[in-house]
Amino acid sequence: MKRTYIKDLQQAVGETVMVYGWIDVRRDHGKLIFLDLRDMSGKVQAVALPNHTEAHEIAGRVRSEWVIQAEATVNKRPAKMVSADEANGDIELELTKLIVLNEAETPPFDVRSDGREISEDVRLKYRYLDLRRPRMQKNIRARDRIITFFRDYMHRHDFVEIETPIMMKGTPEGSREYVVPSRLEHGKFYVLPQSPQQFKQLSMVAGFEKYFQIARCFRDEDTRGDRQPEFTQLDFEMSFVTQEDILQYTEAMFTELIRALYPNKRITTAPFPRLTYAESMKQYGSDKPDLRENKQDPDELAFAWIVDFPMFEKDEDGNIQAAHHPFCSIKDEDRDKFMTGQDLLSVRANSYDLVLNGYELSSGSIRIHQAEMQQKVFEYLNISPEEQRAKFGHMLDAFKFGTPPHGGFAPGIDRTVMLLENEPNIREVIAFAKTGEGKDLMMGAPSEISEKQYRELGLKIVEKPAKQK
Ligand code: AMO
Repeated sequence: MKRTYIKDLQQAVGETVMVYGWIDVRRDHGKLIFLDLRDMSGKVQAVALPNHTEAHEIAGRVRSEWVIQAEATVNKRPAKMVSADEANGDIELELTKLIVLNEAETPPFDVRSDGREISEDVRLKYRYLDLRRPRMQKNIRARDRIITFFRDYMHRHDFVEIETPIMMKGTPEGSREYVVPSRLEHGKFYVLPQSPQQFKQLSMVAGFEKYFQIARCFRDEDTRGDRQPEFTQLDFEMSFVTQEDILQYTEAMFTELIRALYPNKRITTAPFPRLTYAESMKQYGSDKPDLRENKQDPDELAFAWIVDFPMFEKDEDGNIQAAHHPFCSIKDEDRDKFMTGQDLLSVRANSYDLVLNGYELSSGSIRIHQAEMQQKVFEYLNISPEEQRAKFGHMLDAFKFGTPPHGGFAPGIDRTVMLLENEPNIREVIAFAKTGEGKDLMMGAPSEISEKQYRELGLKIVEKPAKQK
């Protein structure tokens, strides 16, 4: 017999069906044994009656989370047994055959609760069980719908998705990089991308004009609630555009996303308010102000644009560094100041952020597309001409071969899903998330490698100096 999914049982009243899934709960009333069955599509109540002897005997033995196959008749429930507030509350399966496909030990925690009462380390260690809980199923499926929306929206607007390398040469975006040793060239390393920034710009040089990617990014930085060492961006780039074009494109996309997938949510102010970085700092003391009218309202979404970020800032040691990254172009009004190198900290970039409910959702900029301007930025960042060649020769070369003016943006997917699903941190919307210390507690990463691997890679471990701990 063909499988029927639990969501389709309503259309099968009066028929005999075969369902597959898990035992959610078992309630043994002696003669009558009730089993709530669960599959990827929903839940339904089944009953084992004593007249189906074998099914009744097996129903007496099964426990929560056992995997079963069941043959049953779909019955309408008598009016007084209907639970109106439950999915499938008006039907019931009468079991004629029950087959145990696999038994399960008692799980280390309840998979039916929302899980907030359980230690997160235990949840992450048994993530495959944690993901069974309805809240996590909902989050991961919502994430898939959001990504599908974005991908579809991009395609509708003639963007092409291009996969860019994960093993690459460093891209300077302010964070520490993850490195991968080369086996063939001892002492040489790939790094994992902090973002596909340089590749997306080079895709513009390549003439694609509209690039996007659901891009995995890697950053070896201290994790917090809204950060993970690996995360996902909706990364995009366009040629022949102004900042205004990118802001409008993005605003229309997020507005349609909310309308299509979260119609109950309310956008506080549309069009999204715009503040310069200087205004935002002055008025709110932050470049990611929370502009909600009612912070208790889970359905309020306060988007805001922050524009005109400074191009440079000082790091802890007082050295000049790029506030966003070194590829941002300079505002026309500040070009003279930039060229003379005076008062660099007041030079503004054509860069912008999208903020939602007090979180930075996305950053982007109109880029530099001329080698001389790019070299000047590198020079101010104290990168010598030799180092410029070694690190960014490919960018400087590419700019010589007809690079169109271009710009882009990169909304964080994890933060988007977190905020739309009203979750307190991004780990709740990442299927196999890492801890705050960047550990995968389920698989046990990071972990040791074998002696053979050390030899092949030409690596030797030195003991960590105490102060680096
Ligand atoms: P930026 O570094 O600002 O810009 O990142 C863009 C967006 O990515 C998300 N994000 C993160 N999400 C989870 N964990 C992290 N560790 C993390 N770091 C960043 C945020 C952030 O707003 N290449 C540029 C974009 C561009 O200029 O087009 C970039 O990566 O939502």
